[in-house]
Amino acid sequence: MPVRAFVFDAYGTLFDVHAAISRHRAAAGPDADGLSEIWRAKQLEYTWTLTLMGRYEEFWTLTERALDFALARFPSVNPKLKPKLLDSYRELDAFPDARSALAELKAKGLPTAILSNGAPAMLASAVSAAGLGPLLDHVLSVDAIRIYKPRREVYELATRALALPPAEIGFVSSNRWDAAGGAAAGMKALWVNRGGAPAEYAELAPAATIKNLSGLAALSL
Ligand code: LAC
Repeated sequence: MPVRAFVFDAYGTLFDVHAAISRHRAAAGPDADGLSEIWRAKQLEYTWTLTLMGRYEEFWTLTERALDFALARFPSVNPKLKPKLLDSYRELDAFPDARSALAELKAKGLPTAILSNGAPAMLASAVSAAGLGPLLDHVLSVDAIRIYKPRREVYELATRALALPPAEIGFVSSNRWDAAGGAAAGMKALWVNRGGAPAEYAELAPAATIKNLSGLAALSL
């Protein structure tokens, strides 16, 4: 079955989660990258643990708690940077290939959507700051069902919004575990492996692995 629409993960796939620290690298000092890695890892861990416990707090709250942990873990980073890092996170840079990839898909007449853990307000500000709004048909947040990825119900938000069977949807994520979630829900997963990470989740293989978003529209799926 051909792919008739493309759904994108937001954080890490369209938006660079490490752009916040990049803007404050000099002020953060030598532990800047370590802080950013732990910030992201804890943010995701909290989504998984809460969902497994049957609990929910919105992604912005988890992002803030994860930053608190990261700042406590790296005392060399001045905690006064917290509000600045959070402000930057609200308006993360899109990867340079994100806009052109979305534009190419739209030019082919294919619907596009974001499907993200992000809370609606944080997604709205990131999409608007990056100027991606006109290139997206839907911006879908897990907040509608208060369950995080990779639960199947999340991916079903996209099949419902697009009114397409999962096998006709390309699900694009740089988070390998999230691409696995899309594949488990029956979508054609496309893994964006920007950093050359090793393969994993062999039983939930992506339909294709790509280095970045350029050329996405030219893939035959
Ligand atoms: C998201 C997380 C997985 O945007 O980055 O859903």
